[in-house]
Amino acid sequence: MRKIIFIISFAITGFTALLAEDISIKITKKYLNIPVSQQDKRNVMRFETEGVQERAFQIRLASGTPEYWVFCDMTSLIGKTLKISYDGNSQGLGKIYQDNAIAGQDSIYREINRPKFHFTPRRGWNNDPNGLVFYEGEYHLFYQHNPYEKEWENMHWGHAVSKDLVHWEELPEALYPDKLGTMFSGSAVIDYNNTAGFNRSGVPAMVAIYTADSPEKQVQCIAYSLDKGRSWTKYAGNPVIDSKSKWNSKDTRDPKVFWYNPGNHWVLVLNERDGHSIYTSKNLKDWNFESHVTGFWECPDLFELPIDGDKKNTRWVMYGASGTYMIGKFDGKVFTPESGKYYYTTGSIYASQTYTNIPDSDGRRIQIGWGRIQHPGMSINGMMLLPTELTLRKTKDGVRMFSTPVKEVEMLLGTPVRGEKLTAEKANELLKQFYSSDCLRIKTTFKLSHATDAGLNLFGQQLVRYDMNFNRVNDVFYSPEDMTSMELTADIYIDKTSIEVFIDGGAYSYSMQREPRLDNNEGFNFWGHNIEVKSLEVYPVKSIWK
Ligand code: FRU
Repeated sequence: MRKIIFIISFAITGFTALLAEDISIKITKKYLNIPVSQQDKRNVMRFETEGVQERAFQIRLASGTPEYWVFCDMTSLIGKTLKISYDGNSQGLGKIYQDNAIAGQDSIYREINRPKFHFTPRRGWNNDPNGLVFYEGEYHLFYQHNPYEKEWENMHWGHAVSKDLVHWEELPEALYPDKLGTMFSGSAVIDYNNTAGFNRSGVPAMVAIYTADSPEKQVQCIAYSLDKGRSWTKYAGNPVIDSKSKWNSKDTRDPKVFWYNPGNHWVLVLNERDGHSIYTSKNLKDWNFESHVTGFWECPDLFELPIDGDKKNTRWVMYGASGTYMIGKFDGKVFTPESGKYYYTTGSIYASQTYTNIPDSDGRRIQIGWGRIQHPGMSINGMMLLPTELTLRKTKDGVRMFSTPVKEVEMLLGTPVRGEKLTAEKANELLKQFYSSDCLRIKTTFKLSHATDAGLNLFGQQLVRYDMNFNRVNDVFYSPEDMTSMELTADIYIDKTSIEVFIDGGAYSYSMQREPRLDNNEGFNFWGHNIEVKSLEVYPVKSIWK
């Protein structure tokens, strides 16, 4: 009986049933929509055209009612016949359908728990930002993406572009898994001098340098694009670095590449086993190992920053996925730490990366981090945190890195409501009108006098808690520049599912999951005995989605 329904449903949707396990579809439309359920086990789905495997990936094909739908862009296969097979329970194959819209297109970006002013892909899981590069007026955001499920698997490089770092347009996947493995993290550069020889008709190549991950090892590969990242060709000589045996370790990944002008060469920073290695190259293809700094894990970055804006007095910052960093010197081949390890940010952030190729006239060091944030009820998981500008500043404790949201974020802010020199009660009164607001920026400075700790909650969730006795902000050690001022400034960005807080002009920041609204009437609540809310500004924040 089930088989009959199965075949009828194929007939209705224009599919041809082969075996119960396989279906064949003549591709005539842009997307294939596939039903998924987290209740079903993962199994391998294969696409085949003209007897050749086009792709294979893990998916939880819904055997019953779909929990959500994912999609594949089939543009390049229009006109071809696609055979789809599935190693697991193949009942859901009959529900796969093609269309020019993705399933749920009408509600996209308006779903109840879709972040309003942070980038998220339309469907699936995302982790690290990859290949952050600015080119011809566009900020590119590639990212670790599983297009087939809201959990980590099948790593691709997803792709989005923005003209202003806040409004994003998602484009088709940039890099698909291949015989060397799935597409792990990496970076992108523009090869203006055609060092790799990929340029055509004067168009400089955008080159992506990424890790291919297989069960056996992790190797470094390159791919290039001559159409602003829209289509990619993988280099036939991949991999360009294979260092498993040197390190006797599978952990060799996440190449971050930049052009080092004084040496007229490329620099590649790679996490290898217990730290970050430096490689150099003249052509992005042949790489020489130069040096290694232990004490870092995953997702390296290395860049130069002026201290207090003085271009004649610079230092280099090296960090890993956690964001903990060292400050030091760099001669193009060796990074020499001059400091211990510091942190400037904690919480949900991980694997952040900074942009390459930002024009000199701009000169900012712009970073985007992965927000390990969930979105209840949604077919997505993870997001990108606000882009921030990184700077080095002298503090009483020495030079430290600061991070503040890029100025472009201001264009999302509506007219603020302001208050000054308020008691906690008066401030809470002012905040009442915002209890049901989805998205807000709240900037406040409060001062302690009779209390050892004080803060601001939202429906019982601790947005900021300053404990001047233990010197902690939200349970992490923090000591203000002027400890005796007894003041703390918090710049708080509240989106549907996330909260980001920048303390004292970016000296320290943290991010976290926004807890679901509790059924109490507490709303926003400044607390702390006799505190003064010296200033309070509340801005509505606009959605970045049309
Ligand atoms: C960091 C990381 C990277 C790796 C990628 C895989 O979150 O583990 O080291 O390349 O994620 O998705």
